[in-house]
Amino acid sequence: MADSKHGRRRSAGSKAHYSDGRYYDQAYRRRRQDVRFYTELAIESEGPVLELGVGTARVASSIANEGIEIVGVEPMAPMLERAAKRLQRLSRAARDRIELRQGDLRKLRLRRRFPLVIAPFNVWNHLYTRSDIEQGFRTVRHHLTRGGRFAFDVLLPDPGSLARDPAKRYRGGHVPHPRDGVRYRYSEYFSYDPATQIETVMMDFEHPSSPRRSFCTPLTQRHFFPAELEALLHYNGFAVESHQGDFDGQPIGRLTESQVVIARLRAQ
Ligand SMILES: C[S@@+](CC[C@H](N)C(=O)[O-])C[C@H]1O[C@@H](n2cnc3c(N)ncnc32)[C@H](O)[C@@H]1O
Repeated sequence: MADSKHGRRRSAGSKAHYSDGRYYDQAYRRRRQDVRFYTELAIESEGPVLELGVGTARVASSIANEGIEIVGVEPMAPMLERAAKRLQRLSRAARDRIELRQGDLRKLRLRRRFPLVIAPFNVWNHLYTRSDIEQGFRTVRHHLTRGGRFAFDVLLPDPGSLARDPAKRYRGGHVPHPRDGVRYRYSEYFSYDPATQIETVMMDFEHPSSPRRSFCTPLTQRHFFPAELEALLHYNGFAVESHQGDFDGQPIGRLTESQVVIARLRAQ
């Protein structure tokens, strides 16, 4: 496949899922453990905090509620619009502690440093190539104070799941979509390229009565195997402080969903 076609697919797969902030918040409303985890790290750090890929400010608003200043960077306008709505529901003091900026983490260069940089919930899974990943780490290095921490989580790749037949439909339940309130029949298709470690999930929303109103949303994520992730951190100037399975401090195991990493700049 031509590079530009790869590029267009990746671009669609990194944007489509984030083109409706209301749907995003509905889909992940039960995800709370990570919010607590990052909020506790923010409290320990005393702030200010830099969040790369702030999304709808799901995590940032909790951090601001704890009295900590946070700058959040996000490329997708619909996510930022939703974040702005969320901010309106905070106290004036908490709202004033959050600064939202539109931008790409790979290119971000602020003239300040932070004792804590975070990238919660699979942001790093959207860095598809080695160059993307190196740019991401460079951004973190640029913004961390000496002794500061970088905390992020990515999916743990499950070799069994990655081997799924791309033609097979995995049915979910019925999902009400905030766009029109209709309950769509939800299913997913998974395809994985073992050479690039990039997986695309096609999220299929089938309208109950009108096929014309059915739609499909791609989500493209680059997987990181645990030892590979530690090597990438090492060769990009970081020392791993902890690398755990999910947000309750367990070792990485067969049932782990997220790899949760805390790293520091490596002494030169
Ligand atoms: C699963 S969401 C997580 C959002 C938020 N951190 C949270 O915990 O809810 C991944 C986010 O990463 C953002 N993202 C993807 N590529 C990015 C990039 N190059 N720079 C900054 N953010 C990016 C997406 O737009 C999306 O909002």
